[in-house]
Amino acid sequence: MQVSDFLDLKLGKRKSTNPPQRSDTINSGDPEKIGQEFLTLFKELGGLKKDDDVLDVGSGFGRMALPLTGYLSSNSRFEGIEPLARGVKWCSTKITPKFRNFRFQKLDVKNGMYNPNGKILAADYKFPFEDESFDFIILTSVFTHMLPAALENYVSEISRVLKPGGSCFITYFLLNDESTELINQGKSLYSLKYSCENYRIESQENPEYVVAYPEEVILDFYKKNGLKYQPPYYGKWCGRNEYTSFQDILIGRKNGRST
Ligand SMILES: C[S@@+](CC[C@H](N)C(=O)[O-])C[C@H]1O[C@@H](n2cnc3c(N)ncnc32)[C@H](O)[C@@H]1O
Repeated sequence: MQVSDFLDLKLGKRKSTNPPQRSDTINSGDPEKIGQEFLTLFKELGGLKKDDDVLDVGSGFGRMALPLTGYLSSNSRFEGIEPLARGVKWCSTKITPKFRNFRFQKLDVKNGMYNPNGKILAADYKFPFEDESFDFIILTSVFTHMLPAALENYVSEISRVLKPGGSCFITYFLLNDESTELINQGKSLYSLKYSCENYRIESQENPEYVVAYPEEVILDFYKKNGLKYQPPYYGKWCGRNEYTSFQDILIGRKNGRST
C-alpha cells in the first residue's frame, strides 16, 4: 500500500473495504465513485441482470467487483482474472470471504506495464473457463493496454466463453474521424504520436502504456468472432465536449441460439 493510501485510511478518508486509491492499476479518480458509475452503465447500457454470471478480465483491485457485490444475487457467479498478484490477493482477502460467489485468480500473462515477467503470451492465452460460461464479460481499461495479437486472441476467447445471447462491455480508445481530429488539434489527453501497423501508441519504450485502435479494426474483430455490436458510446479522453464516460465503451453481443 502506498503511503498516501495508508494516510487516507488512518484519516478516515477511505474505508478498508475500498480499493486503494493510488494502487498499481488506478492512477486517478475515486475508485468507489467510478465503480458505482460503471455499475449504472453495466445495467443501463449493457443490460446486466442480477442473476448473470460475470467474468471480469483484468479485475485489478476489484474496482468493478466491489459495486457488483451489492447488485448480483448470491446465485450468480463472478470470476475475476488478473496478472497482478497484489490485485488478486487484495480481492481474495477483502471480497471473497464475504461474497463466496466472487472468485479471483492470477493469470501469468505477460504485459509490459503490469506483468513484464509473465510466462504466457496474451496472444496465446486460453481463458480458464469452459465454452459458454458467462452472461456478461467486463474489460474496463484493459484493451487500452494490449497490443493487436493479444487483443484479437482475447476477443476470440470472450466469444468462446460467452453464453449465446451474452454481452461483453469493453472500454477502448477508438480512433475515428472525430477523435483523430481532436488529437491533431492537441485537445486529447494523449498525443498517440507513434503510428504502428494498425494502432497508435503513446510511448515507444512501453507500447502497452496507452494503445488506441481504429474503430473499424475493432469492429472487424467483433464481426470475425460472431459478436454483434451497438454504436459505441464515446468518451471524453480525446477532448470531446459530449461523452458518456472517460474511455469509449463498446458493447458486443454473441449471437443467440436459433430456435
Ligand atoms: C488500468 S488497470 C484496470 C483494472 C480494472 N479493470 C479496473 O477498471 O479497475 C488495467 C488492468 O489490466 C490488467 N491486464 C493487463 N494485461 C492483461 C492481460 N493480458 N489479461 C488480463 N488482464 C490484463 C492489468 O494487470 C491491470 O489490472
